Parts: sequence; structure tokens; C-alpha cells
Amino acid sequence: MTEIRTKPLYHSVRIGKVELEGNLFLAPVAGYSDRAFRSICWDKGASFTYTEMISAEALSRGSEKTALLMRRAHNETAYGVQIFGGSPGVMEQAARIVREQAKPSLIDINAGCPVPKIVKSGAGSGLTRDPETLFTVTRAVVQAASPLPVTVKIRSGWDAANLTWKEAALAAIEAGAAAITLHPRTRAQGYEGKADWHLLTELTRVIRDKSGAVPVFGSGDVFSPEAAKAMLEQTGVDGVLFARGALGNPFIFRDTRELLETGAYAPMDSAEQIAAGLKELTLLIADTGERRACREMRKRFCAYVKGLPDAASLRNALVACETESDYRKLLK
Ligand SMILES: Cc1cc2nc3c(=O)[nH]c(=O)nc-3n(C[C@H](O)[C@H](O)[C@H](O)COP(=O)(O)O)c2cc1C
Repeated sequence: MTEIRTKPLYHSVRIGKVELEGNLFLAPVAGYSDRAFRSICWDKGASFTYTEMISAEALSRGSEKTALLMRRAHNETAYGVQIFGGSPGVMEQAARIVREQAKPSLIDINAGCPVPKIVKSGAGSGLTRDPETLFTVTRAVVQAASPLPVTVKIRSGWDAANLTWKEAALAAIEAGAAAITLHPRTRAQGYEGKADWHLLTELTRVIRDKSGAVPVFGSGDVFSPEAAKAMLEQTGVDGVLFARGALGNPFIFRDTRELLETGAYAPMDSAEQIAAGLKELTLLIADTGERRACREMRKRFCAYVKGLPDAASLRNALVACETESDYRKLLK
């Protein structure tokens, strides 16, 4: 049955006391969503951005390298710092450090990471599997983060036989979470197979029926503006997170907004695509130095040139770029 929507598809969102102008977010993506890329996403219309997952353990040990990951970008008017960990005490300590040092708009708890080393310590999707611990961790983080809101990003469950998304979401809300994001794949699926959007529909229903309902955001297979529109229409989520779909294509935010508001969007301009990549490179150099940034940008540029004429030979040359001027000469 199709739901009758009273709101336009592109709309403002409220997470606790944080008011966001739109509902198109950059997902946490380890190895990509540093502040250089997040800044580009803001340029291109993102309504909100998440840092990649940051180790609560490392933060609480005072790791300076880890603390760098939570810095705000110059144009990032609203952002969330995502932390991961399985121990309520360590997560509480980390949340306090994030609140005091980074002063983000909110703190997000990673309850979805499928990496074995992470889940072994009870963190990541280990928390979706264990709603009781998720409750304790969320409550500890909510107390330490106050007055910042806390959001929780879960998976659908451990594997097909253990789908705990509903219990996990309800436990997080009970503990004070101000929004839930569901990536409807199991830990066992990793990033393979299709994300099960039906679970997003079910979760929005479950949460809307509760008193004190919080927004629900959807993640999974949002690779195009059309997919984002379909997710909003089909599932009733309040907002969508772009992950792999935004890599090399930060224009996806602007294009999606245009599609949602006007029914169409202009095709991507390749000069603008390259310019965005070069700007990201400059920002990354300022943060990490030229050598490291140039190496890091190799994989990112390969995504930027996707779809350009001669992309294959460009990619071969890109992976040999060592300096900013190598990139600029090649991409002129
Ligand atoms: C390389 C990579 C790194 C990721 N890192 C994180 C992370 O740090 N925290 C997190 O909650 N999710 C992370 N994710 C999951 C994404 O946020 C997203 O939920 C998932 O990729 C599904 O969206 P998609 O199918 O549109 O890519 C990562 C995904 C990828 C592919």
C-alpha cells in the first residue's frame, strides 16, 4: 500500500535540538569521509555530514592522531562525530572528549561495522546483535554528550537468522537516542547483496507508532538521485545517507535535491567534476601534507573520473601521481 505523504520529499529535519535544513546526508565512510571530502560535500549541497568511525578506545587514551579525525571543516555548519566501542565506560569517556574538543552538532554511535576485529570487542554490529549492551552504551553516551543529541546507526542484524534491528532500535531510543539510521544489511552480508529497504518501511512504522518518535534515516544502495527519491517515497524515512554513491560524486546531493524539488536535474559537467577533485586534494594537502594526500587521492580520483571519456587510461596515470602538480598537469 502506498503511503500518503504530507511533507515534500526534500524537507528540514530535527534531531533533538538540532535543526537541519535538508534531509540528504553524507554517511560515515572510513577512509573517505575526512573533513576535506566532507567540505566538498557541503559545497555540493549535503545537509549533514558524518565523520568516519573513530575509536573510542584511542580517543580515551589521548591519541592525537585519532583526535584529528574529528575536526570540523571550515564550511561544515552541522556535522556528527561517529564513535565506536563496546564498553559503556570507554564510550562515555570518548563522548565527553568529543563534546569538549570537537564540539560537533551531535555524536553518532556505530552499531553496524562488520569488521571482525571490531565486532570481537563487542563494538560495531556486535551492538546491533546485543540490544541490552546497546542500551547501556547508548545511555552512557547520551549522558556524557548532553546537551548534544546522540544518534545510533545499526544494521539489520548479525545474519539472516538473527535480525535484531527492531530490538536494537527500540533499545537505543529507550536509552535516549535522538535518531536511528538503519543500514538494512546483516553483518554477514557486509556490503554485498541488496539492502532490504522493506525493513526501513517497517522501522519507520514501528517508530512512528511509539510516543516520543524520533527520525529514521535510511542507508543502503543509494547510488543515484533516483535511488534516493525511491527510498524516500517507498520507505517513508525522514532522510537518506549517501555512502558509496557519493564517492567521486559529491554532486549527488545537489542533483538529488533538484530531482526532489523539480523532477529533473542537469547532467554532470566533467570540468566541474575534476575541479571538485582538485579542491579536495588541496584541502587534504593542508591537513595531511602533500605526499600523503597525493597517495590517498589516487583511489578517490579514480572515482571522480568514472564516466569520463578515456577513464581507463586516466586511471592508469592517476595511480602514479606523487605531487599536486602531477595531478594538475594530468587533469588540465
Ligand atoms: C569503505 C566503506 C567504509 C565505511 N565506513 C563506515 C563507518 O566508518 N561507519 C559507518 O557507520 N558505516 C560505514 N560504512 C557503511 C556506510 O555508511 C553505509 O551504511 C553502507 O555503505 C551502505 O550504503 P551504500 O550501499 O549506499 O554504500 C562504510 C562503507 C564503506 C563501503
